[in-house]
Amino acid sequence: MKNLTIISHPLVKRDLTLLRNVKTPSNIFRSVLRRTASLMAYEVTNGLRLRGVTVRTPLERTKGYVVRDPIILIPILRAGLGLVGGFVEVIPDARVGHIGLYRDEETLKPVDYYLKFPKKLAGALSIVLDPMLATGGSAVAAVSYLKARGAKKILFVSLVAAPAGVRHLSRSHPDVQIYTCALDRQLNAKGYILPGLGDAGDRIFGTGE
Ligand code: PRP
Ligand code: URA
Repeated sequence: MKNLTIISHPLVKRDLTLLRNVKTPSNIFRSVLRRTASLMAYEVTNGLRLRGVTVRTPLERTKGYVVRDPIILIPILRAGLGLVGGFVEVIPDARVGHIGLYRDEETLKPVDYYLKFPKKLAGALSIVLDPMLATGGSAVAAVSYLKARGAKKILFVSLVAAPAGVRHLSRSHPDVQIYTCALDRQLNAKGYILPGLGDAGDRIFGTGE
């Protein structure tokens, strides 16, 4: 799939193993996810466009660079919040919008409950953050909300994806590049990714215990 990039850095693979482990408690899960998000941010921002500037060192003038397009991070609540800290560490001037969505347990369809975006989405690079791309319903809805508000350049970043979710998102929004650290085998009957890492929101916030 040409709009799918798998992030396969060895340190990401190591961290994903810790995140998959059922014995990893919430406090460790949160800190490992934050570190992984920073590693992912390097990969995701590899194609950023730069603008040349002049910088004065203590000795003379030389050429430097600034990032051309403003960056807006859009975590999908709740679990996407677990990726924000790591991204902001690498992109400190990013603005952050929020999309509140949960999956109805019966229908698996996304239900929205909160939307708040920075202004001027049109000229920015929007990076949607959600650790899990399962059926793809939440991702498709999130990208649709952004496009309806004028966003033009959108990346979708997940930690673990199921083939069905990648298909759904890339068919609905072929212009959106998808990043993930692992393309897992399949979904179970309840829409959970196998092997996956369980319920990401519960594991980050300790609400499954
Ligand atoms: C999880 C996850 C995604 C969504 C993925 O959120 O964080 O947003 O499910 O599933 P999908 O691809 O089938 O839409 P959840 O609904 O559990 O909400 P939470 O983050 O608040 O726990
Ligand atoms: N949401 C999760 O948190 N985990 C899954 O495996 C699927 C959806």
